[in-house]
Amino acid sequence: MAARQPLAFFTRILPEPAPSLLAEVFRLGGNLEDRSLTPAEIMEGVAGATALISTLTDPIGEEVMEAAGPQLRVISNFAVGYDNVDVRAATARKILVTTTPGVLTEATAELTWALILAAARRVVEGDALVRAGGFKGWAPSLLLGKELNGCVLGIVGMGRIGSAVARKAAGFGMRVLYTRRSGPLPEEAQPVGAGWSFAPDLHSLLAASDVVSLHVPLVAATRHLLGAKELAEMKPGSILVNAARGPVVDERALIEALRSGHLFAAGLDVYEHEPQLAPGLASLPNVVLLPHLGSGTIETRRNMAELTARNAIAVVAGLPIPHVVNPEAL
Ligand code: DGY
Repeated sequence: MAARQPLAFFTRILPEPAPSLLAEVFRLGGNLEDRSLTPAEIMEGVAGATALISTLTDPIGEEVMEAAGPQLRVISNFAVGYDNVDVRAATARKILVTTTPGVLTEATAELTWALILAAARRVVEGDALVRAGGFKGWAPSLLLGKELNGCVLGIVGMGRIGSAVARKAAGFGMRVLYTRRSGPLPEEAQPVGAGWSFAPDLHSLLAASDVVSLHVPLVAATRHLLGAKELAEMKPGSILVNAARGPVVDERALIEALRSGHLFAAGLDVYEHEPQLAPGLASLPNVVLLPHLGSGTIETRRNMAELTARNAIAVVAGLPIPHVVNPEAL
């Protein structure tokens, strides 16, 4: 009798080709619908799984790993970020944690630019005005925005996505200043003649940038990286964009900086207590609010789905794993 296939537990159905690819190796179980499971539902359903296929909204802590049982080999997260997974607990249990970097870089960089442009040129306010019948004709001082040409774009975290955002800055005539944990980028990692400048610390970047865009992962050191003090260090009339993780910014302090007019505007794709917003945020006119759409293109979500499946399959098949966070767990 053929051996029973191992179980891949989905916390939520993913786009094709993830289900088809995984079905070649695994029995599929869990939530095959497009809705979030509660933590209790995950705990109940995950028992016996060899692969846990999770999304960034599912907290995967030690108790979930315990509930799965000792056969759990891989947590394959459908995201580049993995702050929802307790990697230390996974490593201690020899469970590999995998993610989907690379395939979502350009989509997330494009969305970052959508936020920069929308915040600078008051696109959402303009749209709302027209829809509400408030457009009475061209006017010399109607909804004046901020010109980007000649301004400095400050990139906090010059990894894959930060660099992709920076590459597009030349098209808007912006100079790039950046911070990077491991120091200045080697010359060959920059487009020829780009002249990106390395900022030795966050404070000097904040003081010199007209637009600040965040591209750091959420870890203990980046939680509230931008609080009241750092927001006050930003140039008066500047713009903050966050398409990374919400808790990197103290949302209440940001509301104050927007309300006082110290910041011209903000563009947010992520929130400190997602999907909840801090009280008052949604009633500010000078903030653009998106529902975590960074990687949300048809092409990218398909590629993320494929990589999520290939990561999990590689673990059980003993193949080289495309993107593993904790190889030391092997
Ligand atoms: C990620 O993959 O971490 C992104 O936030 C998804 O949009």
